[in-house]
Amino acid sequence: MGEPNFFSLRGQIAVVTGGGQSIGEGIARRLTAAGARVAVLDINAANARRVAASIAGLGLHCDVSSRPSVEAALSEARRALGPIDILVNNAGIVGKTARLQELDEKDLDEVYAVNLKGVFLMCRAVIGEMLERRYGRILNVASIAGKEGNPTLIPYSSTKAAVIALTKALAKEVAGLGDVTVNSISPAVVFTKIHETMPKATIDYMVSKIPMGRTGTIEEVAALVHYLVSREASFTTGQCYDISGGRATY
Ligand SMILES: NC(=O)c1ccc[n+]([C@@H]2O[C@H](COP(=O)([O-])OP(=O)(O)OC[C@H]3O[C@@H](n4cnc5c(N)ncnc54)[C@H](O)[C@@H]3O)[C@@H](O)[C@H]2O)c1
Repeated sequence: MGEPNFFSLRGQIAVVTGGGQSIGEGIARRLTAAGARVAVLDINAANARRVAASIAGLGLHCDVSSRPSVEAALSEARRALGPIDILVNNAGIVGKTARLQELDEKDLDEVYAVNLKGVFLMCRAVIGEMLERRYGRILNVASIAGKEGNPTLIPYSSTKAAVIALTKALAKEVAGLGDVTVNSISPAVVFTKIHETMPKATIDYMVSKIPMGRTGTIEEVAALVHYLVSREASFTTGQCYDISGGRATY
């Protein structure tokens, strides 16, 4: 008698956006280790292919802010791998770090296009198929910035708050129509390339707010995502899970 295969994703097809590096790469690796076949989508096609090659997955160029690009990538993923069971919307950008008076409309639009419209387009492109098959798991990577609001990060914080609300609204739209769940996570700081262009003062502020006094790891985030996209997580929807070392106050 073998051990029960808890949280196995064997036979399932997953799509991870922004999977070409950092957190998305870690999620793609974790879901593969659990048995899924993973399509790694990224605006950086070379990185998507590099990660995919190392996990026997499929690496595809995709700009999540462009509807034609989203549709082309998902068609290719379905053709090569089959219908999509799991969608992880991880692609995101920080945008300009500055106070409100120093931001213009373009700074907001740029972040909105990737962080919010990208999630909207990706969810819209898979939800019909999930409802038809009466199974699906959508996981949106928001941020603790979306709950707490970080100074000098208004576009980022507000788009992440919108992702949390989109998650709740979509989850309620599809609740009870088969086993389709939609959840989000809010990580606090996990050191990755996303911080390379951020001023040190902004990073120090965010780290100082974490009660555990440390930053998170990619592996910790990937483990939470794995649980939330597993078959076992069938009575949890519309939630935002914090992975913030205790930072969230609600
Ligand atoms: N690192 C952190 O501290 C932290 C904290 C909270 C939330 N997050 C969120 O986690 C997610 C991943 O962050 P990360 O730290 O791994 O960042 P990262 O910059 O290292 O990786 C982001 C990936 O998304 C891709 N990407 C950017 N724009 C895209 C687009 N238009 N279409 C497709 N792919 C695109 C990039 O090429 C890159 O591979 C983001 O949504 C981010 O907001 C990160």
